[in-house]
Amino acid sequence: MYPLKRNRRLRTSEVIRSLVRETAITPNDFLVPLFVVEGKNIKEEIASMPNYYRFSLDLLEKEVKELWNMGLKSVLLFVKVPDNLKDNAGTEAINAHGLMQRAIKTVKNVAPEMLVMTDVALDPYSSFGHDGVVADGKILNDETTAILAEMALTHAKAGADFVAPSDMMDGRIFEIRTLLEDEGYHDTGIMSYSAKYASAFYGPFRDALDSAPGFGDKKTYQMDPANRDEAIRETLMDIEEGADIVMVKPGLCYLDIVRDLKNEIHVPIAVYQVSGEYAMIKAASEKGWLDHDAVVMEQLTAIKRAGANMIASYFAKDAVKLIS
Ligand code: PBG
Repeated sequence: MYPLKRNRRLRTSEVIRSLVRETAITPNDFLVPLFVVEGKNIKEEIASMPNYYRFSLDLLEKEVKELWNMGLKSVLLFVKVPDNLKDNAGTEAINAHGLMQRAIKTVKNVAPEMLVMTDVALDPYSSFGHDGVVADGKILNDETTAILAEMALTHAKAGADFVAPSDMMDGRIFEIRTLLEDEGYHDTGIMSYSAKYASAFYGPFRDALDSAPGFGDKKTYQMDPANRDEAIRETLMDIEEGADIVMVKPGLCYLDIVRDLKNEIHVPIAVYQVSGEYAMIKAASEKGWLDHDAVVMEQLTAIKRAGANMIASYFAKDAVKLIS
């Protein structure tokens, strides 16, 4: 009891604080999301994501080399699909020579050891901006998972190390795993967006890819932010179906879910600090209302402390510069 015990003794200097520190951010913690567009010599800033860019394949090479040299060794690829290639079935998603499939090869060419993860979902390819095939205003489940499995297979064939289904259809992990096994892609991993909420924080990302839903919302497939048990149920099912890594998304508002899962499962957990979380910090710090660097590190540390084994973050480069 006080005065024998004084917690402040462990806070008296930076040296003692660093000795008892429980969580540290390192370059190994990050998945770096990358947005890819058709064209040449394009590096265009995303309006709602200051200092974050879409790259054409030639400039993607430069970016990937820079990431590798900084110690950032995993990327998560997304593509912006031209309007004329969009349809209801997401046909372009399974084009072996599509932008995603070429992007995978581009990354592997310049940095063969870079871990390449790919987003698997129909929304950037869908004329309706939905993650699945639409009929009578509904998102069809099983028709969609069949296409997602084909899509994942084209990514594996192009050289992806992990496919990352972000669509929230039922049974898609099983369909993807089964097809990959049948085709001999035993080592291609699956990172499942397993507890993905129907969040308003995805707005800037949908600007980046021009992928906002054309009608309605995503609440019939993404999870209700009010639910907690459901996240465990979803995640346990994805693990049974063959997910190697599971994910909670978004980050900051959902750290209770991360901790619940950490206590319940023994599979690596990824957390996605999403576009809206990025935009909030950028906007507030542009106004001088928040200390950008301090808030970035505090949030990343909190995500890891909650139980994340890895973090998909638009702040990966900033964070690595801050800790080196
Ligand atoms: C696509 C997908 C989305 C995000 C990742 N994959 C958007 C969505 O589900 O509408 C969001 C990422 C972010 O906001 O940073 N299925």
